[in-house]
Amino acid sequence: MKKFSIAIDGPAGAGKSSIAKILANKLGCIYIDTGAMYRSVGLGAIKQGLNYQDEEAVSLLMPDLDIKLKMSEEGQQIFLNGHNVSTEIRNDEVAAAASKVATYTKVREALVESQRTIQNETSVVMDGRDIGTVVMPNATLKIYLTASVNERALRRFKEYEAKGIAVDLAVLTEEIVARDKQDMERKISPLKKSDDAVEIDTTYMTIEEIVERIISLLNERM
Ligand code: CDP
Repeated sequence: MKKFSIAIDGPAGAGKSSIAKILANKLGCIYIDTGAMYRSVGLGAIKQGLNYQDEEAVSLLMPDLDIKLKMSEEGQQIFLNGHNVSTEIRNDEVAAAASKVATYTKVREALVESQRTIQNETSVVMDGRDIGTVVMPNATLKIYLTASVNERALRRFKEYEAKGIAVDLAVLTEEIVARDKQDMERKISPLKKSDDAVEIDTTYMTIEEIVERIISLLNERM
């Protein structure tokens, strides 16, 4: 198979990472979870005791943050300055911090550069908010995944439930709505559907159906 790239964008909880992981597995390529990278910056700021609302402080911290994605038997793991933070980045406080630091130019510049380097070298499935618009404007296939807010909140709720974490569905819904608003309204690289992306509303679709649809779209393009 010749080199290809799939860009998957969409709002929180649309199923991007579950689908991207399965796709990468089936297609035998690497998966880059760019959201995990922004979450790691958010976590890095919190761990340093910084106010993540402070753009200058977070920007100054960037050169000290070494963020690496590595494959392991338990799936992809993310390391922040040598520590595995894959579990620690999955909570609402870090999600809110990620969405805030993602509005800062210095943060985006640094992360986008490393994302572009990876996709130059190999076939990749990458998911995030600006992948089709900024990181990989020439991607072989661009997908914009959506689902209703209620469905997305419910999916996130079930993910937390499965991990034994108690959350309130109403609070979770509010947090998702607030984060989507911040991601869509920010000045640099806001979340939006690229003109040439295929939009898939996943509200009433199973993961298998979505994966099949994306693979058939990729086949058409190759
Ligand atoms: O998994 P979920 O959809 O909740 O979020 P995520 O993909 O882990 O991303 C966390 C936050 O990082 C988002 O709310 C965005 O603000 C930011 N992000 C971004 O700005 N650009 C990306 N390419 C990926 C994530």
